[in-house]
Amino acid sequence: MTELEIGGIPARTLAEEYQTPLYVYDEEKLKNGMKRFKQGFISHHFNTKVLYASKAFQTIEMLHLVKEQGLGLDVVSGGEIYTALAANFPEERIYFHGNNKTLGELTYALNNGLTHFVADNLMEIELLEALCKEYSKKIQVMLRLNVGIEAHTHEYIVTAHIDSKFGMSYESEDCQQALQLIKKSSHLQLEGFHAHIGSQIFDLTAWFAEIDQLISYLKDFDETLSLNLGGGFGIRYTDNDRPLPIEDSLRQLIRHTEETLEQQQLKISQLIIEPGRSIVGEAGTTLYTIGFIKKTPHKTYYFVDGGMTDNIRPALYQAEYSCDIATKLSEEKTEKVTVAGKMCESGDIVIKEVLLPAAKLGDILAVYATGAYGYSMSSNYNRTVTPAVVFVGNGESRLVVRRQEYSDLLKGEVAYEHP
Ligand SMILES: Cc1ncc(COP(=O)(O)O)c(C=O)c1O
Repeated sequence: MTELEIGGIPARTLAEEYQTPLYVYDEEKLKNGMKRFKQGFISHHFNTKVLYASKAFQTIEMLHLVKEQGLGLDVVSGGEIYTALAANFPEERIYFHGNNKTLGELTYALNNGLTHFVADNLMEIELLEALCKEYSKKIQVMLRLNVGIEAHTHEYIVTAHIDSKFGMSYESEDCQQALQLIKKSSHLQLEGFHAHIGSQIFDLTAWFAEIDQLISYLKDFDETLSLNLGGGFGIRYTDNDRPLPIEDSLRQLIRHTEETLEQQQLKISQLIIEPGRSIVGEAGTTLYTIGFIKKTPHKTYYFVDGGMTDNIRPALYQAEYSCDIATKLSEEKTEKVTVAGKMCESGDIVIKEVLLPAAKLGDILAVYATGAYGYSMSSNYNRTVTPAVVFVGNGESRLVVRRQEYSDLLKGEVAYEHP
């Protein structure tokens, strides 16, 4: 193949039809990503549930796919709930997370039929209790626990982790008070415990440690609870990333949970996971047009027509990506270049150093694995319009989000009379 195709369509054709920058998602990859989780995360000893962490990429069309594939949903804000409702996502399959849900968001969630809440702290439990009383609601609550395990790509560290922004330590007074409050409540039912130990995890021992820790709390309860392990499955951004096969990882997580429960003579009713990146990341590619090319004494820059506004990850945490010139796949990669965005920030670098063929103005550059936390973290910095999102498959494409227009930038601005 000399030219990049996505979902059976040449990248160049997509760029011509929808302009660049462009977020392109391979719909089959999205569906297969979800199927792998749904089919691989099964136990004969307890129920299992896969929630898609929609912060990674949320649009109505994406949520329709999630719904069709039978997954649940992890949402973290009123806006994510609003989008889920707009997609007619079944309310009972939605879990509402977040460390500082506002009164408005909690009220909105309760009055729109959400029944699963992952509570972060004692004040949230107190507020939920008051609101459920006021609105005569009954909900299930998971407590987000800080299990003192910090997973990094290839290792994990055990930390005291007492000062994390997220969750509570099980032993803390706040957590024990929250449990007491739930126990006494006729509105709140304890569903179980949740933890999330990191992202881009390639090493299962961190998950095993998390499972052990969560299971250790169960002996304090007569009722059979559920456990939620969070998300964090790693994906391949560059050749340096070697993620474990998902199916095998899921099997091992299930087996470890089953064995640990058996050893400790304990039971759970349900095991939940919340993958985000691993479902959408590698299904997404961003297409850019190369503009000016500039040589400095030590560098060659290929400038592209987007950057940190459509993908903040490199600037935010030095995330690495791989790329190709879409029409020059078979050309020799002779140039060591820096791919830089067009925003007014020196940190607006898409890829710090990469080998590419010699390029010319107008070439299409494809950056791979941009499907997670790209569109969802996009901004209008420099009054840049947000690119369109297109789903492709079987040689066909469909617009899922239209490119913003300049007039969108003024939406919400209040117009005053000026002489
Ligand atoms: C609580 C929780 N669950 C799930 C996820 C999804 O993680 P990932 O996209 O790495 O799978 C996150 C990510 O921040 C999270 O905070």
